[in-house]
Amino acid sequence: STENLEIEFQHKIDQGYNIEPKDWMPEKYRKTHIRQISQHAHSEIVGMLPEGNWITRAPTLRRKVALLAKVQDEAGHGLYLYSATETLGISRDELIEQLHAGKAKYSSIFNYPTLTWADIGAIGWLVDGAAIINQVMLTRTSYGPYARAMVRICKEESFHQRQGYEIMLTLCNGTEVQKQMAQDALSRWWWPSLMMFGPTDAESTHTELSMKWKIKRKSNDELRQQFIDNTVPQAGILGITIPDKDLKWNEKTGHYDFGEIDWEEFWNVVKGNGPCNKQRLDARRSAYEKGAWVREAASQYAEKQRNKEFT
Ligand code: ACO
Repeated sequence: STENLEIEFQHKIDQGYNIEPKDWMPEKYRKTHIRQISQHAHSEIVGMLPEGNWITRAPTLRRKVALLAKVQDEAGHGLYLYSATETLGISRDELIEQLHAGKAKYSSIFNYPTLTWADIGAIGWLVDGAAIINQVMLTRTSYGPYARAMVRICKEESFHQRQGYEIMLTLCNGTEVQKQMAQDALSRWWWPSLMMFGPTDAESTHTELSMKWKIKRKSNDELRQQFIDNTVPQAGILGITIPDKDLKWNEKTGHYDFGEIDWEEFWNVVKGNGPCNKQRLDARRSAYEKGAWVREAASQYAEKQRNKEFT
């Protein structure tokens, strides 16, 4: 019976076994994964846009090569994650259609503009730094294809984080104007980066079940705290200031206390009304339309190859 299957399923999870595509799984487990992995895939793809904006304006050839490689990695992560989602019985076309129709979510962070070169540093340092904390946890998530995808993705994210931090370090050791640019980027990206971890545990609708199924192994608030604890000393080394007057070390808890996040801003961005939501979706739709001839040519070619095999 389904009940027995569910007990067996939970037992497998509790024992620390991975669930693989052909294993039995509750429908809700499948749906939750389609939701989370596809949101993650969309985030990687939309995430190429804010940084892609600076490829043609990178200050040196070395910076351009590194940024190009990074943005290309994001594309790879997106395709990898779409493939992982497809193992759950949904097609990539459907997923992309959901994104383009504005029905799918992707990370709030990519709806903010990249105004200066220092933003490329801040994104690598903070946004990829936050992504790593979240994704290292996901290398031990219970669904096999997702967990394995995360191992490789985390290795690449760690290169992204370092290239970002190195840009910040260079700017902070540069002229006064360069240092101000770095400070301005930190001031604008700090709070949105904290929002990446999602609503507080009390407000998070999916956490309880996702913890039970070991999809998540740490809660949104735990990961956010871990990110803050890691990042504050790094800002200290750069010599720039985190824009939070309530941020201070708490001897008792062994963590940093921090100020109130603007949740109204967060939900506003998630609902599609952030500074760049429209621009991002327009860019994705237009890229898809302009790429139609490539997809057509590729499938024509594949068709020809298939016919060759039979004659
Ligand atoms: N941006 C947009 N939507 C968000 C965000 C965010 N930063 N955080 C939470 N949400 C959404 C959730 O998707 C969920 O919406 P839904 O019910 O319509 O799917 C809702 O807010 C409630 O949040 P939670 O119950 O906390 O959702 P969940 O348990 O899925 O936790 C989290 C959110 C932590 C983001 C989780 O989905 C996750 O770990 N995802 C994988 C990592 C990822 O997607 N990273 C993308 C950014 S990193 C990068 O691309 C470089």
